[in-house]
Amino acid sequence: MAQPTVVVIFGASGDLTQRKLGPALHSLSCEGQLPASTKIIGVARTALSDESFRARIEEGVEAYARLKPGSNLCSLWSTFEERFSYLAGALEDPQTYSRLRQRLTALASSPSEEANVLFYFAIPPQAVETVVRQLAEAGLHHASRAWRRAVFEKPFGVDRTTASQLNELVREVFREPQVYRIDHYLGKETVQNILVMRFSNTVFEPLWNRDHVDHIQITLAETVGAEHRASYYDQTGVVRDIVQNHGMQLLALTMMERPEGFDAASLRDAKRNVLEAIKEPTREDVVLGQYESYRDEAGVDPDSRTPTFVALRLRVDTWRWRGVPVYLRSGKRLPAKTTEITVQFKTCDCPPLLSQSEPNRLMLRLQPNEGIGLQIETKLPGAGLVTKPTDLVFDYADHFGAAAAPDAYERLLLDAIAGDPSLFIRDDEIEASWSAVEPVLRLHEESSFPVSRYKDGCWGPETSDEMLEADGRLWLAECSPSERGSQCVE
Ligand code: BG6
Repeated sequence: MAQPTVVVIFGASGDLTQRKLGPALHSLSCEGQLPASTKIIGVARTALSDESFRARIEEGVEAYARLKPGSNLCSLWSTFEERFSYLAGALEDPQTYSRLRQRLTALASSPSEEANVLFYFAIPPQAVETVVRQLAEAGLHHASRAWRRAVFEKPFGVDRTTASQLNELVREVFREPQVYRIDHYLGKETVQNILVMRFSNTVFEPLWNRDHVDHIQITLAETVGAEHRASYYDQTGVVRDIVQNHGMQLLALTMMERPEGFDAASLRDAKRNVLEAIKEPTREDVVLGQYESYRDEAGVDPDSRTPTFVALRLRVDTWRWRGVPVYLRSGKRLPAKTTEITVQFKTCDCPPLLSQSEPNRLMLRLQPNEGIGLQIETKLPGAGLVTKPTDLVFDYADHFGAAAAPDAYERLLLDAIAGDPSLFIRDDEIEASWSAVEPVLRLHEESSFPVSRYKDGCWGPETSDEMLEADGRLWLAECSPSERGSQCVE
């Protein structure tokens, strides 16, 4: 690469830089994937020297990086840390941007050249407008002999209206191909594997429709609570924090039509189309919950109604999926950290004397213990024709080794630097996913709509189970009802 790339992180004194961006950049450097000329400038109001900024990065790398300094794979710490510098300044102060301009000029390979710049917005949504406008004022948003790109962290807006306002603002300054809206789930190997599984195999796609599928379940469960992010979380809740982005992306990848190609435009068109086809859920399709100890967390309003759990019954109104419910649930302080998608097939119209004790299920385990399981009916050895369900299991770690998968941020940072937006969210897609969850946000705003308390360590309120039971179904997840029983007995 002739020109150096500079990653400018706004909000660099925060958690994301320490826990995710620094470690990702380190692992990429260890593997030689990040051009040696790449530099990182952290910008934030907090007064820090270059040395103390580097010390924070080092702490994060030691704690969270896939490849740690000093391991036999990586011994480049001193040259790596030199790439980082810090610029203390208020984000609303034009001086900050003129100093940034001087730094960027100094980093270019010659005075007549310009550096390529990736602006990374690791800042709260209310600060985004200021930075976008200041970049434009300072003329930093474009360059004639280099590229400029902007990565926006979630949340992108807080509802459909604010997301489309933010899109408009961003469009005033950047062209859409310069804009990278991040959803780190798309950087996870197993999430990308949903597409490979569906479209690079011939066995699943013919069955992937309402003629063969009974229903789909998507679970995004966490054992952690709101904890150190509680005051942010209390303004956000699970629908905005997880469902609008990660949940909707998983649904879209699982249920979209076959894209025209695997280029960014075709993938994003296909996802947008399925998101737009989600029908508005009714009151009966929505369960909201809050774990019992939530209001004791520091930073949480003692009367908070913020949901930490949601269960939804959704319908996707396309020819392929008409009549097939999708049950999606997500929550904090649940019994397991697990993200999984289950496609349950219709039961067999078995010939006389044969039966099927359980429907066939295809389980995609996205994390942890990444893998794919197919539950099939098999004959028990011995006389007669007694059958039982068994699992065909593919385990990622067994096949590819435990440390094979890069962290999501590694993949996404590399893609943004390389200029490939396929795994980022386009403007229309983000608005479609806000539209899909907006009915749930509106129900929550009604003071009479229940936000039921659930015991810490349980799978949400009982009404979540009842919603499926009413349809003659059960939630399926890593942690079966018998396993969770002891934690959740009243
Ligand atoms: C983030 C949410 O986007 O995803 C967090 O803001 C959540 O609340 C996190 O904990 C979960 O990500 P992962 O990769 O650990 O499943």
